[in-house]
Order: sequence, then structure tokens, then C-alpha cells
Amino acid sequence: MNTQRSDVLFAIRNVSKEFSKVRVLNSVSINLRRGEILGLIGENGAGKSTLMKIISGIYQPTSGTLVYDGKEVDIPDYITAKSLGISIVPQEFNLINTLKVYENIFLGNEMRGPHGLLSKKMMRDEARRQLSRLRTKLDVDALVSDLSVAQKQMVEISKALLLNARILIMDEPTTTLTGYEVSVLFNVMKELRRQGVSILFISHKLKEVKSICDRVAILRDGELISVEIVDLIDEAEMARKMIGRDFTQVFPPKRDTDETDEVLRVDHLKLAGLSTANSFRLNRGEILGFAGLVGSGRTELFEALMRLRPGDSGEIYIKGKKVVIRSPQEAVNYKLGYISEDRQGKGIVSDFTISQNITLIALARYVSHLLINKRAEIEKSEEYVKAFNIIAASPKMALRFFSGGNQQKVYLARWVETEPEILIFDEPTRGIDVNAKKEIYEFIHHLCDNGISCIVISSEMEEIIGLCSRVYVMREGKIQGVLKGKQIDEEHIMFLATGIKGRIEDEQ
Ligand SMILES: Nc1ncnc2c1ncn2[C@@H]1O[C@H](COP(=O)(O)OP(=O)(O)OP(=O)(O)O)[C@@H](O)[C@H]1O
Ligand SMILES: [Mg+2]
Repeated sequence: MNTQRSDVLFAIRNVSKEFSKVRVLNSVSINLRRGEILGLIGENGAGKSTLMKIISGIYQPTSGTLVYDGKEVDIPDYITAKSLGISIVPQEFNLINTLKVYENIFLGNEMRGPHGLLSKKMMRDEARRQLSRLRTKLDVDALVSDLSVAQKQMVEISKALLLNARILIMDEPTTTLTGYEVSVLFNVMKELRRQGVSILFISHKLKEVKSICDRVAILRDGELISVEIVDLIDEAEMARKMIGRDFTQVFPPKRDTDETDEVLRVDHLKLAGLSTANSFRLNRGEILGFAGLVGSGRTELFEALMRLRPGDSGEIYIKGKKVVIRSPQEAVNYKLGYISEDRQGKGIVSDFTISQNITLIALARYVSHLLINKRAEIEKSEEYVKAFNIIAASPKMALRFFSGGNQQKVYLARWVETEPEILIFDEPTRGIDVNAKKEIYEFIHHLCDNGISCIVISSEMEEIIGLCSRVYVMREGKIQGVLKGKQIDEEHIMFLATGIKGRIEDEQ
């Protein structure tokens, strides 16, 4: 008998999973080694999150076995997973908005003092220590409802790190983080690896997988395609294996802008309580970018325009006519649409089905004699399922059971359904796989072909550069400049976004 300790900490053996007879994982076998960072990639709906939920006791496999430290194990629930040292940072947040940061971190693992009483002080101190490990300045007494998505992500990560995890599962942990936060997180991951923790890392950003992982497992349609050593595979090859054919990221050719056909002009719009005012304009059929670092005020600016948050002063012109927008509903009436970056918090209704979600805002069109025309609603959603290639086991199931990327597509469809003339996309491809991204870019162009004018807020440099004909760059709540044509490159954008190395003076 081999008495040597195997380098495999956890083995997934021939695991299959079915939901109502639909097979989403098919006999998957993967070994996770001690102290490695194993990437897990695959298209939206490939089964990545499902596999991770099986390891963390949230779902049970339909067949197959799990082997932990050489012994077959049953992981019937989340608590058992935790007791084995398996922690998950889930793709969709699991935080309670009405509780404080430290209360969320300790939820279910409260610390008690000598007399068995809950010790708030101990928990606060420990929460502070965990957050400082992530180099995050976050008030442990802040309410989760007041946090940005990036901050919520940090709370989720702290919560997972709390219990001395031996296996840490991170399901798309970087989608809402800034470059700086990502590098901090990667350093924490490297440190954990050094301590012997095994990490499973899911990401659609193949560049990240390339830079942080030791090996990468590729899933396609619920099947394991292969496990590769990251040093021996490049991003193009990863993408090819994921989608099963050659993939080249091509953006459709850039659009020309007709500078004389202005559909929206915003003059000196101020956010309530702030002194900075912003002015910009949008031309018909153009794709206008808003670049800047996370937290530079782009979302706030457009939330103020849509009256999702208070704004004061400033003038808004739509097609040359001055308008006053007093509520989000009025913004929709003026044919403005805003697709929030916070899909979960401000977007979808996860207990509703796809068709209910898609028609939610435009519902009036589906109501006659006080009844909702269900058939029309379903037909419409079928059109979008085709147009966006939305993949779901059953169209009747609630959106919470859709994969993350497919939820995002439903959310986009819902806004398109309001028939806007001006559509603002805030981080539209967050959580979207490489291939579906391309489809979304093509779709944005298609909207523009049909006379719709689009604004794309994005923290992804490639997306801004590849998609937009003009780009405003924001920093500290203020537009710093506008770039056009050949000026739209990484260097110019970074100058304006960070203020380092002077700035570009340009017409506005
Ligand atoms: N509880 C559930 N009930 C029914 N179907 C489910 C359930 N959970 C997941 N599925 C289905 O399983 C398939 C795989 O979903 P999963 O969330 O694992 O994909 P993913 O690879 O994580 O995708 P993404 O990159 O979009 O997050 C999808 O078709 C999804 O709709
Ligand atoms: Mg997922």
C-alpha cells in the first residue's frame, strides 16, 4: 500500500447532475491538488457554478463521488462543507442588506465571550483584521445596503476567509473589483496557496486565469474537456477549448458619428450635495463610452440623469428640446433606458420567470382589460432567448436558477423591450463569457443601426477601445476630457482616468 500522502486534496469522480431530468453536468472528474490554484472556465451555463455548489454542499450530485484527503465523503449540506474546511465565495452575493458588515461576516459563526454571550467586540476586531488583510478600508459597522458592489464582494471574501479554509472556492470574484483590488486579492490568494490552501477560481477573464492559476479545467456543455497546465496554454487556446471552435475577439467596425445629430445633451448636471457639474452630449446612432476607474462617478452621473438618485441644477435636452425629468418613470417615458451594473440589487426579480422579467418595465403593453396577455409575453421572451442565445433548462423556471451570464442577458433584454431611444449600459458584459460578449457587442451595433443611441460605461479597457466612437473619461466625479478616433487608446484613457502625466485638452 502506498503510505505517501497523495498530492491530491480533493477529487471529483464521475460527477453528474440533473435538474428535472435535464443533465447539466456529465460525468466530470477533476483532481484538486494541495496548495494549487485551479482555474475553472467555460461558457455561460457550462456548469461551473453547479459543480462548485456540489463541492460546497449546496447541491447533491445525481451520481458520482467526492473524495476528500483520500476518503470518500458525503457533503449533504453547507455546514458539513464548512466543517471540512470548504468555503465558497458565491457568484451571487449572499449578504443580508439590513445587517452590518461585521454581522454579515460572522453570520452563522458568531463569536462568544467567556460566558457564552455574543461578543460584538471580538467579532468587530476580527472582521477588521480580515478586511485589512484584503487592504480594504471598510467600516465594519456600515450597513451592507449602503455598500457598493465592490465592497460587498470584499465582505463575501472576508466571510469565506474567516473559517480556516483548506479549499477556497471563488466563483467570479473579480467581476466588480478595480485593478488595484484584483491585485490585492491575487496577493491574498498567493499567500493562501503558500500556506497550502487549495483554491478553485472561476473567471471569464482568461488573462486573470493565465496570470494567477497553476492549472485550468475547461468545461463545455457540462463535460470536462481537459485540464491544462497554465504555462503551456495561451488565452486563445483556452477560448478555443471552451467554445469548441476557433475564436477571435473581433469588434464590428467602428461607427461614424454624425456630430450634427444630437439626441441628448446634458449641461452642468450636478449630483445633489456635490459641487462638480458635468456636461456631455450624445449623437444619434453612436456608441459613446464612459471610461474611468471604478468609483470615478460614472454610475452616479447616470443614476442622477435617470433620477434614480437626486441631482440638482443642470439642464437636459432631448433631441434639442429641454426636458425636466422628475422620476425614473419619466426618464423611461422620455425613451431613456439604464441598465444598472448591479444586476442583482437593482435589476432582475429572481423569483420571476424569464418572460415576467423581460416584460416587467414595458408591462403596460401586455395588459388588456386588466389581464396580462401571457401568450404575448411568452412569445416575446422566446424571441429574446433566440436573439441573445439565452440558455436555460426550462423557460418556466425562476431566474434565480439561471446561470449568472444568462441572468445578465435576460436583464439586457428587459431594457431593450422598453423600446428606448437612448440606452445606457453600465458594465454590460460583467460575468459574460468571451463568446457571448461578442454577441452583445454585435447587438449594441445592431441597436445603433436601428437609430438607437447607446452609452457604454465600462471598466474594461478593451471594451471601450473596441466599441466606442467617442469616449468621455471621468475621475473623482468629473469628466476630464473626451477622446475621439485614434485618440481612443489605453494611454490617453489612463492619463485622463488617473490624472498622471498631465491631461489632454480637447473640445467638448
Ligand atoms: N437549481 C437549478 N434548477 C434548474 N436548473 C439549474 C439550477 N441551477 C443551475 N441550473 C442550470 O444548470 C446549467 C448550468 O448552470 P451554472 O450556473 O452551473 O452555469 P455556469 O457555468 O456557472 O455559467 P455562468 O458563467 O453564466 O455563471 C444552466 O443551464 C442552469 O440554468
Ligand atoms: Mg456561474
